[in-house]
Amino acid sequence: MNIGIVGLGAIGSLWAVKLHQAGHQVCVFTRNTHQQTAQVTLDMDSNNDSVYTFPTNQHDSLAQCECLLVTVKSTQVTQAISPFLPFLPTTTSIIFIHNGMGAVDNLQSQLANFPVYLATTTQAAFRPKPNHVQHTGLGGTLIGPYSSNIRKSNIIKVLNNALAPVHWQENIQTALWNKLAINCVINPLTAIHQCKNGELAQPTFTPTLNLLIQEIVQVMNAVSITTSTSQLTKVINNVIITTANNYSSMQQDVVHHRATEIDYITGYLIRTAKLHDIDIPMNHQLFSQIKHLETKYPIQ
Ligand SMILES: NC(=O)c1ccc[n+]([C@@H]2O[C@H](COP(=O)([O-])OP(=O)(O)OC[C@H]3O[C@@H](n4cnc5c(N)ncnc54)[C@H](OP(=O)(O)O)[C@@H]3O)[C@@H](O)[C@H]2O)c1
Repeated sequence: MNIGIVGLGAIGSLWAVKLHQAGHQVCVFTRNTHQQTAQVTLDMDSNNDSVYTFPTNQHDSLAQCECLLVTVKSTQVTQAISPFLPFLPTTTSIIFIHNGMGAVDNLQSQLANFPVYLATTTQAAFRPKPNHVQHTGLGGTLIGPYSSNIRKSNIIKVLNNALAPVHWQENIQTALWNKLAINCVINPLTAIHQCKNGELAQPTFTPTLNLLIQEIVQVMNAVSITTSTSQLTKVINNVIITTANNYSSMQQDVVHHRATEIDYITGYLIRTAKLHDIDIPMNHQLFSQIKHLETKYPIQ
């Protein structure tokens, strides 16, 4: 297949290499539009030949693009994809993989004629230096329709062959909300306290975790996502324990003076709560604290 990847970061680089290894034509699109080729080294690859070169920013290839994977952060989605939409055939499947919710809604009218999919992944990738990617955690990817008239595509099979497991999820909103709930708790707290995920298991965090979870459950129930405080507490405690040695992406964004994804994580929760007249003061407090942290440094 002819596959385009927008955003050659950690996740984009991992998919680029895996799709290339599976025999597909991969063209990547980067922020520096003058760049014509990009190299990616998959660290710890068992093959000797582990440096991959990709044609880059070849706008002519968009007319043949069958699938466009958008792997930029939620904050970067609109700016990254808008320039390409006029050049893509309306048969191109567009798949968004990022944390947070609501970023694609900003493009609803521009995307109306395309088959659009949303994905959430527990694969973990890390860029130790430019042009290098490490596959740091084995996970899975769920993909489902953005709009209800979209059917399961054979692209799921293509992606599953490249970086398994990839599963079709008809109700992707439920999967996205469950991921959002975890991110709303772990990301801001680890960024504010500059700690690893595992530190949130300390008893001092328990009252805050409980309050956050109670608020999140109210909002999820209001949008018809079935969950309970005991169920969500169990899920979040499990993530805290299984990722105890990891730093969250928001903690890393703050350390490296980058814009965080708070507007599409806690921000999305707050906007949804407002629509349903639900008070979520603890989430508001974390949102304000992250916004305050962001004002302390010039965003890179
Ligand atoms: N990494 C993980 O393990 C992981 C796991 C699950 C979910 N996620 C989520 O997946 C998303 C991507 O994460 P990531 O870790 O891959 O982030 P990342 O390494 O920062 O990658 C994003 C890439 O998008 C590029 N980009 C930004 N604006 C662009 C534009 N206008 N045109 C083209 N490229 C542009 C960035 O370029 P520059 O380098 O020039 O800034 C960067 O290379 C995030 O929402 C993250 O939360 C990540």
